[in-house]
Amino acid sequence: MNHQHALVMGATGGIGLAIAHRLAVDPQLQTLTLCARHASASNALLALQQEAALRSVTVRLIDVDISDENSLEAMASSLSLDESPLDLIVNAAGLLHGLRLAPEKTVTQLTAESMQKIFAVNAFGPMLLIKALWPWLRAKRPVVFASLSARVGSIEDNSLGGWYSYRAAKAAQNQFLKTTAIELSRINPQSIVLALHPGTTDTALSQPYQSNVAAEKLFTPAFVAECLLNIIEHCTAADSGSFIAWDGKRIAW
Ligand SMILES: NC(=O)c1ccc[n+]([C@@H]2O[C@H](COP(=O)([O-])OP(=O)(O)OC[C@H]3O[C@@H](n4cnc5c(N)ncnc54)[C@H](OP(=O)(O)O)[C@@H]3O)[C@@H](O)[C@H]2O)c1
Repeated sequence: MNHQHALVMGATGGIGLAIAHRLAVDPQLQTLTLCARHASASNALLALQQEAALRSVTVRLIDVDISDENSLEAMASSLSLDESPLDLIVNAAGLLHGLRLAPEKTVTQLTAESMQKIFAVNAFGPMLLIKALWPWLRAKRPVVFASLSARVGSIEDNSLGGWYSYRAAKAAQNQFLKTTAIELSRINPQSIVLALHPGTTDTALSQPYQSNVAAEKLFTPAFVAECLLNIIEHCTAADSGSFIAWDGKRIAW
C-alpha cells in the first residue's frame, strides 16, 4: 500500500482490529492512529503498538466516542497537521445490539431511544468523523475515507425487511458518504470516499445472528481486512462515492 499515516476508528472491534493488524505490517506506513472509546486500555491494541514499534511504526491510541462531537474534535486537534498527514481513514465503528438494544423485527419494537443510539453510531458518527477530519480530507493530496456500511443499508436490496434502525442508519450513512464524495471531488480531486460492505464476519456484532449463516459465508476478520484493503488500494478517484462489497462488486444504493 502507499499510505504513510492511517487512522482506524473502531479499532477494538473484530474487523477494525484485523485492519489495524494488516496496516501495521505495511512497509510504507509510518504512523497508525487507532481509535475506540477505550483504545488506550485495550490489551489487543497495546500489544499491537509494541509489535509495531519493533518495525519503527508509530501506533497512537486515542480514546474517542464517535457519537460525541467534542470527543471527535479533541481527537482531530491532537493530530498535528505538520506530521505525516493522514492519507487513509477507515471507519470500522458500528452498533447493532447492546444493553436493551436489539435489531427490531417489528414496528412495535421501535423506540426513540434505540433509534437514536443506532443512528448516533452508524449514521451521524461517520459524518461527524468526516467533519472532524475535514482539514486532511480537503487538502489537495491523495486521501481515502472508507467507512464500513452494510448490504442491509441498500434500499434496492431490501427484500426481507426487519432490522429497522440499523438498516435505516446504514442507508443514511450511505447518503452522507455519497454527498461527501461529491463535495470533496470538487475541493480535492484526489480524494476517494467509499462505503464498504464486509460480508457476514465472525465478530461480536454478528455473533447472535450467525446460526443461519453457512460456514463458508461466515468470514474471518483477517480475510475481510485483506479484501477491504485490497479494494481500497485498487480504487481511484473515479470510484469515489461507490458502495462496494468485500468481493469488489458494486451494491445498488
Ligand atoms: N460483522 C459483520 O458481519 C458485519 C456485517 C456488515 C457490516 N458490518 C459493519 O462493519 C463494522 C465493524 O463491525 P464489527 O463486526 O467489527 O463489529 P464489532 O466487533 O462489534 O466492533 C464494533 C466497533 O465499533 C466501536 N464502537 C461502537 N460504538 C462506538 C462509539 N460510540 N464510538 C467509537 N467506537 C465505537 C467498538 O469500539 P468500543 O465499543 O471499544 O468503543 C468496536 O471497535 C460495523 O460498522 C458493522 O456495522 C459488520
